[in-house]
Amino acid sequence: MILGVIFILKFPHFRSLYQLLFLPKNDYNSSLNILPGGSMEKIKHIETKEDALNLLNVALEHEWAVSFEYTIHAYSMPKGKFFYEDLIMKHKTDVRAQIIQIGIDEMYHSLQLGIIITQMGGIPSFKTDEVMRYPRIMDNLKRDKMTEDMVTNLYQSAEFKPGAYPKIQNMVLNISYDEVRHSQQFAAMMEAIKSSGDEEALCYQSNPENAQKEDVQLLHKITRLENALLHRYLKYVLLFSEHQDLSQRLFKNSIDHMRHWDKNSGLLIKMGDVIQIENAETDNQGVEKSKIPMPSLYSGEDRLTALKTLIPAEEELITKYEKLISIVPDREIKDQLQLHLALNREHVFTQEWLLKNAQKIEELE
Ligand SMILES: [Fe+2]
Ligand SMILES: [Fe+2]
Ligand SMILES: [Fe+2]
Repeated sequence: MILGVIFILKFPHFRSLYQLLFLPKNDYNSSLNILPGGSMEKIKHIETKEDALNLLNVALEHEWAVSFEYTIHAYSMPKGKFFYEDLIMKHKTDVRAQIIQIGIDEMYHSLQLGIIITQMGGIPSFKTDEVMRYPRIMDNLKRDKMTEDMVTNLYQSAEFKPGAYPKIQNMVLNISYDEVRHSQQFAAMMEAIKSSGDEEALCYQSNPENAQKEDVQLLHKITRLENALLHRYLKYVLLFSEHQDLSQRLFKNSIDHMRHWDKNSGLLIKMGDVIQIENAETDNQGVEKSKIPMPSLYSGEDRLTALKTLIPAEEELITKYEKLISIVPDREIKDQLQLHLALNREHVFTQEWLLKNAQKIEELE
């Protein structure tokens, strides 16, 4: 016990794992927690607008992190190799494909939370909880299930003052049951991998020779930019959520960038590499951790500055795709990159007109 206390004082992010495992449930619930894999405060009593915003932003930082973490875990493992029997769908399902689907669910949770935060006059956070990747596929799944249980607990233990924010309360409950479902799916995936004797199966690794390869390194850079643009568009989707047509147009572009990020992650595997976690540090066990897997700040605070800033960002990405297409030898990879380039060119057209049209109407705030 004493050793445990010394340990958590020294390594504060283990504190809540310790609490989760060793403290009675009430002590755990009533405390402020720093949870394993990042900071997640426990917000128990919701009475004021500030309490509600606090809960929503803590949840949002979690949702951003897992939307990434799951997709990264999925793109670190083979396609069509591991299957599990999904209890609800009653269908033999590809583990990797389903993890990507869960990552998309988390992105929608982020969006739902961000829209409500904006509508309440708050500022949605783009910070994230910590993202990790273990060398073994099984350890990633264990972590994924653990984070699902953790966030279910956050959502379901929030006690709203009677009559306070009924819609938020309802949203939080609805999201929490998506998390319950996710947790059961991760458990079933682990069970299946265990029973097929694949517990030791490893994630894809980067071939060391790739450090010298210009095309692979450029694709990593492009993939980081796609990721930044995806979230940057989402920031403006949230900012203009009351202006539905503008918001939808920006959302479409965001989804395109998400698809490109996703496809590029697959291309990296074809090139003998694997998607990187931004700003990650690797410990001596080969475990990668990052607290900044995506930029946490994006410029543009109002309509015109937001729209203006997107055009050079798209152009920078286009230039990099053109360069990469000129040097990548593989025909299939080149064709896929061409599709990304084409859509990004279309984005520039859309963005230029969104900006010009906004400038034409003085009354538009
Ligand atoms: Fe979620
Ligand atoms: Fe989830
Ligand atoms: Fe684009």
